[in-house]
Amino acid sequence: MTSTVIVTGGAGYIGSHTTLALLQMGIDVVVLDNLSNSTTASLERAAQITGRSPVFVQGDIRDEALLNGLFEKYPIQTVLHFAGLKAVGESVNRPLAYYDNNVTGTLTLCKAMVRAGVFRLAFSSSATVYGNPAIVPIFESVTTGMPTNPYGCSKYMIEQVLQDLANADPRWSIALLRYFNPVGAHESGLIGEDPNGIPNNLLPYIAQVAVGKLPELVVFGNDYPTADGTGVRDYIHVMDLAEGHLRALEALETRTGAHVWNLGTGHGYSVFEVIRAFEAASDRPVPYRIAPRRTGDIATCYADPSKAMRELGWKAKRGLPEMMRDAWRWQQMNPNGYR
Ligand code: NAD
Ligand code: UD1
Repeated sequence: MTSTVIVTGGAGYIGSHTTLALLQMGIDVVVLDNLSNSTTASLERAAQITGRSPVFVQGDIRDEALLNGLFEKYPIQTVLHFAGLKAVGESVNRPLAYYDNNVTGTLTLCKAMVRAGVFRLAFSSSATVYGNPAIVPIFESVTTGMPTNPYGCSKYMIEQVLQDLANADPRWSIALLRYFNPVGAHESGLIGEDPNGIPNNLLPYIAQVAVGKLPELVVFGNDYPTADGTGVRDYIHVMDLAEGHLRALEALETRTGAHVWNLGTGHGYSVFEVIRAFEAASDRPVPYRIAPRRTGDIATCYADPSKAMRELGWKAKRGLPEMMRDAWRWQQMNPNGYR
């Protein structure tokens, strides 16, 4: 297994859980994060859990000189690339910031990797690249490229760039990991998702309603063509996702080229099913009201994860009850996140 891994965006939600999993495997980790959407508390907690600390460097993936220095200083063989901006609504209002952080940031990172002779990269892509899927479950080879917002377009563009790099130079080994809906927290309750302000995503919103910080959930639409009318998504426990990254890194050791893997469970749950599961896990009511559909939302999205099973030997192990239990434990133990 790879010895030193650089994790961009490693202080963030998914990056900190994956850093924890890497540390637990005995892998040395250098985290590069500009802390634009995180604090180092997540890494301190990961160190508390694992008894090992990552090296932390505060800086930006668009800073080429900084990156060159890091590749010179540490024996880095692999890059896990989480850093980027991820709020869909904000991306509509600030497209330049999204293309600059996500696309320019990735180009700068790849240039530094080439200079350093490091060609192994796992990239955080998203099911958003599938746009509104014609069929579910979604498998990797269906048509992509119709995302409805700048965030989704930035993920799609980065995937194209990375495919082109792999086509042009056989030294590259690249994993394009398309996450479905990451939720939950580490089982310890010490690290979890800590959104800024009012959450955009369903799970952190529900958790803040249950804990009494927000009065009620607003359900965006009950007139979708789904069993109960609410949107259906493939929620995946963030620790399953972290373990998927470990398997992808192992796979890249013996593969060249760019490889796409869906990281999802293969199960779709409606908003109402998630509410009921959260109420059961927390033993608290989650009051809600129905509102019109959110612009850009789709009815149903869930993965066919069989390629990751076949090629990575990876399968999500934790079900909806565990996702809700761990999201609730994190919320209860940290009602104000890391603050
Ligand atoms: P996050 O915001 O918690 O983590 C991203 C981290 O990157 C943050 O710590 C932030 O400070 C850092 N960062 C942002 N721009 C940077 C830059 N220019 N230089 C250095 N650091 C920078 O988000 P997350 O939920 O952990 O998502 C991680 C990745 O996974 C992102 O690329 C996101 O687009 C992708 N993704 C997330 C989801 C999701 O639902 N959370 C779904 C699909 C894909
Ligand atoms: C959102 C992003 C998507 C991104 C994904 C993972 C949008 C339009 N899409 O997808 O690009 O890849 O997160 O980060 O933001 N819901 C409510 N009330 C809420 C919040 C959500 O009813 O307050 C519903 C939504 O309509 C949806 C489901 O819950 O049916 C899940 O929503 P969310 O957690 O925001 O994820 P996605 O919409 O799948």
